[in-house]
Amino acid sequence: MHHKTALVTGASSGIGRAIASQLVDAGAKVIGLCRDSSKLPAGVQALPCDLTDIQQIDAAFASIKHLDILVNNAGLALLSRISDGNPADWETMWRLNVQALTICSQKALALFPESGGQIVNTSSMSGHRVPATGGFYSPTKFAVRAISDALRSELRADDNPTRVATVSPGYVDTPLLDHYFKGREEQLAQTRQSIRMLQPDDVASAVLHILNTPLHVEITDIQMRSVDQKS
Ligand SMILES: NC(=O)c1ccc[n+]([C@@H]2O[C@H](COP(=O)([O-])OP(=O)(O)OC[C@H]3O[C@@H](n4cnc5c(N)ncnc54)[C@H](OP(=O)(O)O)[C@@H]3O)[C@@H](O)[C@H]2O)c1
Repeated sequence: MHHKTALVTGASSGIGRAIASQLVDAGAKVIGLCRDSSKLPAGVQALPCDLTDIQQIDAAFASIKHLDILVNNAGLALLSRISDGNPADWETMWRLNVQALTICSQKALALFPESGGQIVNTSSMSGHRVPATGGFYSPTKFAVRAISDALRSELRADDNPTRVATVSPGYVDTPLLDHYFKGREEQLAQTRQSIRMLQPDDVASAVLHILNTPLHVEITDIQMRSVDQKS
């Protein structure tokens, strides 16, 4: 990872923080995009930005000269049902989980070297099957996989060697679960007791594996979950 520059979105917490830390340890120059830069790990250059605001994304990318790696990790899992959820929650998740990821990908392509860069998008097991409580979150994670596949096809058609991967974890013990289980705190406590959840570093190690593969290898998706998670 020496001589590589990586941008990690959502680097201030959970999975993104672990990815940023592991990239720093591997010798990369790491730019951490998030709203609260005070929580970034040591060695990460802060890029403050609210990804739900397109103008802020434009301004953030305007300050970057070169990139080799983009990890589109920032995401939010609000508990918001299709049948009676709040459309404002759907919009927030759409803007962050889908729209921002797509815009950041497009902007990163212009900053990658001619020899190609790497994009890793954080999807979810909820992007592979719809949990009963998945609400609008699950469709945003299906969209992440579809966008990744669409972009990969476009790049191959254009003879662009940039590689695109997704990583799809089950439960990971991060603050995101507090939103997802809002109003179901007892169920979250039970789940934490009954399942040895993935830790952020478990997912980060999978991302580093993707990033360390030889240039001719393109991993398209890693699905991973705790051995205790039944679905
Ligand atoms: N935890 C799980 O069980 C799980 C499972 C599967 C997939 N995932 C996916 O993994 C990714 C990371 O989740 P996590 O569990 O690590 O969550 P987390 O600990 O809550 O971290 C979310 C990160 O996203 C950033 N973020 C949130 N809103 C933002 C905004 N408007 N603009 C810029 N950054 C924003 C946060 O930074 P600031 O607050 O500083 O802006 C934070 O760094 C998400 O895409 C999530 O869907 C999580």
